[in-house]
Amino acid sequence: MSDAIPAPFRLTGRVALVTGAGRGLGFEMAKALRQAGARVVITGRDAGRLTAAAEALAREEGPAVDIAAFDIADIEAGRAAVADIVLRHGRLDILVNNVGARDRRPLAAFEEPEARALLEADLIGPMLLSREVANVMAGQSHGRLIFVTSIAGHVANREDPVYTAAKAGLTGLMRALAVDYGRLGITSNAIAPGMFATETNRHLVENADFSRFVDIRVPVGRWGRPEEIGAAAVFLASDGASFVNGHVLTVDGGQTVRM
Ligand SMILES: NC(=O)c1ccc[n+]([C@@H]2O[C@H](COP(=O)([O-])OP(=O)(O)OC[C@H]3O[C@@H](n4cnc5c(N)ncnc54)[C@H](OP(=O)(O)O)[C@@H]3O)[C@@H](O)[C@H]2O)c1
Repeated sequence: MSDAIPAPFRLTGRVALVTGAGRGLGFEMAKALRQAGARVVITGRDAGRLTAAAEALAREEGPAVDIAAFDIADIEAGRAAVADIVLRHGRLDILVNNVGARDRRPLAAFEEPEARALLEADLIGPMLLSREVANVMAGQSHGRLIFVTSIAGHVANREDPVYTAAKAGLTGLMRALAVDYGRLGITSNAIAPGMFATETNRHLVENADFSRFVDIRVPVGRWGRPEEIGAAAVFLASDGASFVNGHVLTVDGGQTVRM
């Protein structure tokens, strides 16, 4: 609970919006932020999944958990969700832009609407939601923008060009907002996950060849456990990170520093 959290990392009184938090890494980051004392609002498209996730989070003692069901590509819905959070809680301190859709195939296999849809979900939606949230944060002279990118924002996987472009774009956006918003009391940083054993990756985890590749390729010799992402979000959201701005915190077991 939050009393056990050292003061620089305590988030008591803070309000956090975590997108795509009905499952996977978003859920784990919402859980960790709440454990550090923040009130959290979780989003996703599936209201049923969000309700179940909120109930799971609320099993631990702590602040109430709110849900907001909307598609990240629907900026009007995002704007309404932000307004509702401010109405209910009076502030919004932390945005974890975690939604990230996957559509892995070579560029030649993409139709234009499919490429545009992936960029909407992974880049344009988070960009416009950040604009709405930053307006609120500027009025408070305090805010933490956190972008969940990927090691694919730095290095490229085979046959994954649109996702890679979106994540590299998100990394650039994070840096641009760090420059533009720093004086407003808003920091902007990224978490770049490596390979995590989330539900979405279950087919890869269960693929013996792929898991052998992970054992060899990742210096710690295993998949990331989803709960291993939470502390990175707490750190970047906290007062302890007040002078950390424009940084990419890679959480990949050392995969991207290996020769
Ligand atoms: N897992 C990894 O190994 C890994 C590695 C590198 C980077 N990442 C990044 O980390 C983030 C989380 O990954 P994950 O594996 O936890 O993903 P995940 O399990 O697939 O979860 C994605 C979440 O986003 C929501 N979502 C998807 N599309 C949406 C949309 N258009 N609008 C609103 N919500 C949407 C989903 O909920 P609904 O379906 O209910 O909408 C779900 O809650 C992503 O940005 C991903 O790119 C993950």
